[in-house]
Amino acid sequence: MKFTVLTLFPEIVEAFFTSSIMAKAVERGLISYDLVNIRDFAYDKHRTCDDAPYGGGAGMVLKAEPLAGALDSVGALEKRVVFPTPSGVPYTQKRAQEYASLDEIVLICGRYEGIDQRIIDLYVDDEVTIGDYVLSSGEISSLVLIDSVYRLCDGVITQESLVEESFQNSLLEYPHYTRPEVFRDLTVPEVLMNGHHAKIEEWRMEKRIEKTRKNRPDLWDLKKSIE
Ligand code: ADE
Repeated sequence: MKFTVLTLFPEIVEAFFTSSIMAKAVERGLISYDLVNIRDFAYDKHRTCDDAPYGGGAGMVLKAEPLAGALDSVGALEKRVVFPTPSGVPYTQKRAQEYASLDEIVLICGRYEGIDQRIIDLYVDDEVTIGDYVLSSGEISSLVLIDSVYRLCDGVITQESLVEESFQNSLLEYPHYTRPEVFRDLTVPEVLMNGHHAKIEEWRMEKRIEKTRKNRPDLWDLKKSIE
């Protein structure tokens, strides 16, 4: 799968692609990426990428021309273009799974107050929000999307790791323990120590339900309503 990222700060995004599990996935040819600097498509003397909003108001808007140039340079009209923005639809694990099944997504990293609406009208397929808060850097929200998607791509991490994680089944994940057996007087639950597989599964399911009801009653209600 390929991630094409349009950004004014490629160095922020590059760091993620050249570190840790992602770096290995790139090296193994499972993931590829293309970072496009939007400023390379600003042709005025000062290579301006932002301007004041028509109609007045606070902040600056990312201009249409450099963004359109960057989008055309990657053939965006034929590709799935995703714009992370606080005004988008909620981003979910289901959408991450859908993106992971595609050959490529093109991400636009917004800055300032937003981007010229005509870019959204002409190029953007999905506007998604990663949560009800506002970030100043679209690079961060794009990286959230990239991280959630690439790990689902074939071969990146073991299938087993994906099976019981949070949001599978609309349930959150069960608690994990590793050595030592006693840490500051707290012991690992007995059931995990005795190797009885069915009992362990039963305990883990109980914990998932308990945690979901406590931390995410909204998810629990949704699960009940569709069962
Ligand atoms: N950019 C700034 N804030 C954002 C948010 N909450 N979700 C997605 N992109 C954003």
